[in-house]
Formats: sequence, structure tokens, C-alpha cells
Amino acid sequence: VPPAWLDELRRPGSAPVDAPEASAGRFEGVYGAVYDRVIQTDALRRLAPLAYGDVGPLPDLDGFAADVAEGTRAPDGALTVPVLLDVPCGGGTLLPRLARAGYRGRVVEADLGLAMLDRARRMGERAPDLDVALLRADAQDLPLADASVDGAVSLNGLHVMPDPAAFLAELGRVVRPGGRLWLITLVTGGGLRGDLVITAGRLGGILPGAPPRRPELLELLREAGFGRVTPLGGDAITGLAAVRS
Ligand SMILES: C[S@@+](CC[C@H](N)C(=O)[O-])C[C@H]1O[C@@H](n2cnc3c(N)ncnc32)[C@H](O)[C@@H]1O
Repeated sequence: VPPAWLDELRRPGSAPVDAPEASAGRFEGVYGAVYDRVIQTDALRRLAPLAYGDVGPLPDLDGFAADVAEGTRAPDGALTVPVLLDVPCGGGTLLPRLARAGYRGRVVEADLGLAMLDRARRMGERAPDLDVALLRADAQDLPLADASVDGAVSLNGLHVMPDPAAFLAELGRVVRPGGRLWLITLVTGGGLRGDLVITAGRLGGILPGAPPRRPELLELLREAGFGRVTPLGGDAITGLAAVRS
């Protein structure tokens, strides 16, 4: 049962995703389960540089989550608790790390994949200090109102979107002015190993296309209304933080 506060964030007139053809593709099956196991197991995730090259903040997801926890705040003077959007949330990888980092606000866990959301639900049950709402949604057309969240985080999400520009535009629409965005994503042109993984991912039906190159990504962020971009490291998989203007 979604919490009442999620209803207050909804964009008027937005409809739930219930079309039978709505699917997160490969992530609905075995690949999704394997991905979750790898990303959520520190020892396995720390092997990522062997496959990708420089993966920036990915090995230290606890440090990344601590930045997100520290930087997600309700507006100055507000009596409300902060709302963080985690999209696509997958199996809830960030939830225990946010809780351990001391985040005590609300988290909207949004994803298109039902199997992924089910794992996120179970992860949320193991983080009782967080107020978690699950939201089945296409990240390129979010059912959330303008400026409805205080911050957004996207771990390995942008590169699975068929339309990364639409995804970032949606994040720019729903994050309130002054709110922050944290992004970890594959980029094209970040090195031979990363580009080989991208080719393999496209052939295997996991990636819908080539992710943007870093300069294109920075331009898309600017167009989506984000400024004050802080690099978090990484060439093949890169991390960025930015502030909504
Ligand atoms: C690589 S996983 C990352 C998940 C999570 N951030 C993590 O790292 O654990 C990509 C996720 O994107 C979801 N996804 C794919 N297309 C989507 C879309 N159009 N809208 C929302 N989620 C989508 C998949 O279901 C999957 O959970």
C-alpha cells in the first residue's frame, strides 16, 4: 500500500503504469537478479575496474550514499522531512547504504521492472529507519509533480534509458530548485574496455543504445536545468553531482 505522502507528490492526471507491454526488458529476468547480486556484493562490485577500466565512485557505494544522505535536505526553514527520488532504483541497492549513512527522510524507489521493485521492497523492509515508497514508473515520463522532490539519485540508470535526454529532463522537472542530483553512469568514449562493454551490452539487448559521451552528458545536464556540476571521478563509468538551478 503506497504511503499517503506519495499521493501528494503525484503529477495531477498521471496514470499508473499498467500496460502489459511495459517492461524493463532483460532486467525482468535472470539478468536483473545477477545484476543485483553483483552490484550489492562489495567484493564483486570492486572487481568492476577489471571489466570497465576507471569506474570512479562505483567501488565505494557507501561513500557515494553518504554524500547523497548528507546533501539531501528539505528547503531551509521547512518543517517537512526531505524526499529523495532513487531512479531507476533496481533492487534497492542504495537503501541500506543510505540508512547506514544516517539518512532519515523519505525515499521514492522508482523503477519500471516489477521483479526489481519486488527486491527493492524487500530491501526497504530491512531498512526500517527509512520511509520508503515504491513507484512503478517509466523514468522518462515520471508521474511526479514539478519540483516535488528535494534530491534525486541515479545509479547505473541513464545508460539503460532509450532517451537519456528525456530522462534528465524529467529529473530536472521533478527536483526542486536548489535540490541536488547524483548520477553514476556509463559514458561512451571513456576507454577501450568501457566501450567494449557498451558494444557487448547493446548486442546482448541490455543497453538500448550508446550512452552519451561525457561532454554530451554535461550539455544534457545543463539543458535539464542542472548547474554547479561536481565530478565524482571515473572515465568509463563516471559520477557527477549537480544542483538544480
Ligand atoms: C542497471 S539497473 C540499476 C538499478 C539500480 N540503480 C542499482 O544500481 O541497483 C537498471 C534499472 O533500470 C530499470 N529500467 C530500465 N528501463 C527503465 C525505464 N524506462 N524506466 C524506469 N526504469 C527502467 C531496470 O528495471 C533496472 O532496474
